[in-house]
Amino acid sequence: MSRNEALDPAGRRDERLVELSLRPRRLAEFIGQETIKGNLSVFLQAARERDEPLDHLLLYGPPGLGKTTLAQIVANEMGAPLHVTSGPAIERPGDLVGILTNLDPGSVLFVDEIHRLARPVEEILYPAMEDRKVDVMIGKGPAARSIRLEVPAFTVVGATTRQGLLSGPLRDRFGIVMSFTFYDERALFEIVTRSADILGFQIDAEGAEEIARRSRGTPRIANRILRRVRDFAQVDGRVTIDRGAARRALAALEIDDLGLDRIDRAILEAIVRRFQGGPVGLETLAATTGEDAGTLEDVYEPYLMQRGLLHRTPRGRCATPDAYRHLGETPPTPTRENPGEQDGLGL
Ligand SMILES: Nc1ncnc2c1ncn2[C@@H]1O[C@H](COP(=O)(O)OP(=O)(O)OP(=O)(O)O)[C@@H](O)[C@H]1O
Ligand SMILES: [Mg+2]
Repeated sequence: MSRNEALDPAGRRDERLVELSLRPRRLAEFIGQETIKGNLSVFLQAARERDEPLDHLLLYGPPGLGKTTLAQIVANEMGAPLHVTSGPAIERPGDLVGILTNLDPGSVLFVDEIHRLARPVEEILYPAMEDRKVDVMIGKGPAARSIRLEVPAFTVVGATTRQGLLSGPLRDRFGIVMSFTFYDERALFEIVTRSADILGFQIDAEGAEEIARRSRGTPRIANRILRRVRDFAQVDGRVTIDRGAARRALAALEIDDLGLDRIDRAILEAIVRRFQGGPVGLETLAATTGEDAGTLEDVYEPYLMQRGLLHRTPRGRCATPDAYRHLGETPPTPTRENPGEQDGLGL
């Protein structure tokens, strides 16, 4: 985000409105993630035919890949009311009891950042998900007693950036677990073309290709780059966005050939130049780059690992030979700590 946008909340509101208008509303409009789409369409149809709510659904994957979008699509496809909340927003068990007992029958309850639910709140959710019951305590001290309330039939759609952050008992209560993967260039190309169409401007195939290739496999980033490219094209007086227009904007945004931004490169540079390729611990890396450790893990590392530029070892993060090459340096001879290419996928 530019400094101007940060100082201009109205501008940010506009950006959010644009993001909303680009959001697919039906499963058929949702591009890519073919496995998720294929399975989900079967589960949705089966639930509709039985006139039952969909089983509880857990979505996980890095930011901007479409978890919130898909949760809304599930509600639309089921013709169900949607109630949106998030892990940190539900502070006390009583808050969740209030939400659950007031749901319209068949509702979809979307819980974003579900890994951040407080434990006592989670404990209210378990029996609600399993038996549509909640236990509430009435009164205090020796007179206190617990009463059981019915909850209408409902579907929890939980979203989290990392499945490992979820407690075991909570994860076990989801009948359907779906994990998002980074989008391939073909899907991103379609997303960019569709978004340009909705926003009402022209982009040629090469312009769309360039943006798709440099969006870190992420629809939100593709849409964001597209809007910035449009700004540059408009100010330059171009009618159609072509490869040249896209390249000019991407250079100004400091997004390189692989789609890495300044922070991605700072991470790789820190590992390669200050820590001789690693291993370096997450906290140290966070301190060196000035980023929060959670953000490094959730936002930056997944894509760097997927591109084979970084891998995790029990002793810390290592840069791969490809990371050296990307920074224009010669990779060192492989060692036991840093075995190089074989481990390049960071699995
Ligand atoms: N499959 C898709 N097809 C077209 N556009 C998509 C798709 N997935 C996501 N988008 C676009 O990307 C934007 C970001 O998606 P969304 O908000 O659903 O991501 P998210 O996974 O919930 O991210 P976060 O973890 O940050 O909450 C949406 O506004 C939408 O325009
Ligand atoms: Mg979201």
